[in-house]
Amino acid sequence: MEMMRISIHRRLLCSVYKVVLRSYVNSCRAVLLPRFGGPEVLQVHSDVPVPDLKPNEVLVRSRAVSINPLDTRMRSGYGRSIFEPLLPIILGRDVSGEVAAIGASVRSLVVGQEVFGALHPTAIRGTYTDYAILPENEVTAKPSSLSHVEASAIPFAALTAWRALKSTARISEGQRILVVGGGGAVGFSAIQLAVAAGCHVATTCGRESVDRMLKAGAEQAVDYVAEGEAASLADNYGLAIGLPLAKGAELKKQIKYRYSHGIEYSWTYMRADFEGLIEIRKLCDAGRLKIPVDKTFPITQVKDAHVAKDKKIIPGKVVLELS
Ligand SMILES: NC(=O)c1ccc[n+]([C@@H]2O[C@H](COP(=O)([O-])OP(=O)(O)OC[C@H]3O[C@@H](n4cnc5c(N)ncnc54)[C@H](OP(=O)(O)O)[C@@H]3O)[C@@H](O)[C@H]2O)c1
Repeated sequence: MEMMRISIHRRLLCSVYKVVLRSYVNSCRAVLLPRFGGPEVLQVHSDVPVPDLKPNEVLVRSRAVSINPLDTRMRSGYGRSIFEPLLPIILGRDVSGEVAAIGASVRSLVVGQEVFGALHPTAIRGTYTDYAILPENEVTAKPSSLSHVEASAIPFAALTAWRALKSTARISEGQRILVVGGGGAVGFSAIQLAVAAGCHVATTCGRESVDRMLKAGAEQAVDYVAEGEAASLADNYGLAIGLPLAKGAELKKQIKYRYSHGIEYSWTYMRADFEGLIEIRKLCDAGRLKIPVDKTFPITQVKDAHVAKDKKIIPGKVVLELS
């Protein structure tokens, strides 16, 4: 009976809060991508509608959103086979901020709580906005030891690494792991996650990153290699042909590597993983996972921030601040 009263009270409070919130957050500032192109196509608008929350969604007052390679690539047209019919879209995956409102079925978070999280790769209302909307399983309490700027650098990259290590490679304690491209946010997360799981880690990276790799627990740091992804093939040939082609390309490499070197080869993609996000937060709070932030820009200077990433003026993580 008491539980029922609490639950009714909570639902009542939520709907009152939503009514109050709706009275002043019907629209907000956001960076829109109206067409694909260079940084100049990005537009900061002050009156972008905030949709009603679905029952499982959380409205986050964004304080910091980091720039991922996916953002600059989407801006340039990567994934156009998926995103072109949906333009204008809002870029951005990562966010750190405070809960501004919750949908009717959200149980794990309360209004006012500091949170961080990342949207899945195909979300069309991204986080470059004062008010981001994320499903409950894509957001959790912010690591208390980190600022919003530091926290926003982590979820998308770390969850990508998490999936590669835990779901695809299924790493276990004592294994030897090679992280290709350890210098970036995904690779650097992978090193720290693998070290925390008790693995022996070697990595490839640029010369300037070697010390950072070794300090993070890698036992060896050597050269760097990069490869393409499935969405490029879908962009070139359309979804119906591009995705099977991508699967075929992956299969060809799997066979090649298996027979030439006995190596299991797979492509992996970021996806929402609530347990993973919670483990990532715990590792952050334990001081075992961190992604250094090279520079911050106010959201109003989003074009300059994208120029800096496109031209590789700033090699490390760039974060946009929203005050
Ligand atoms: N499939 C998916 O779901 C998924 C998800 C996330 C990312 N990705 C892809 O994975 C790749 C890496 O992403 P990312 O977020 O790790 O990119 P990133 O942080 O921008 O890193 C890219 C490269 O920049 C250099 N770099 C980064 N931080 C540096 C620093 N502090 N100091 C010096 N150099 C630094 C590194 O070069 P060196 O290695 O030469 O040192 C690194 O490999 C991208 O192609 C991205 O699109 C895919």
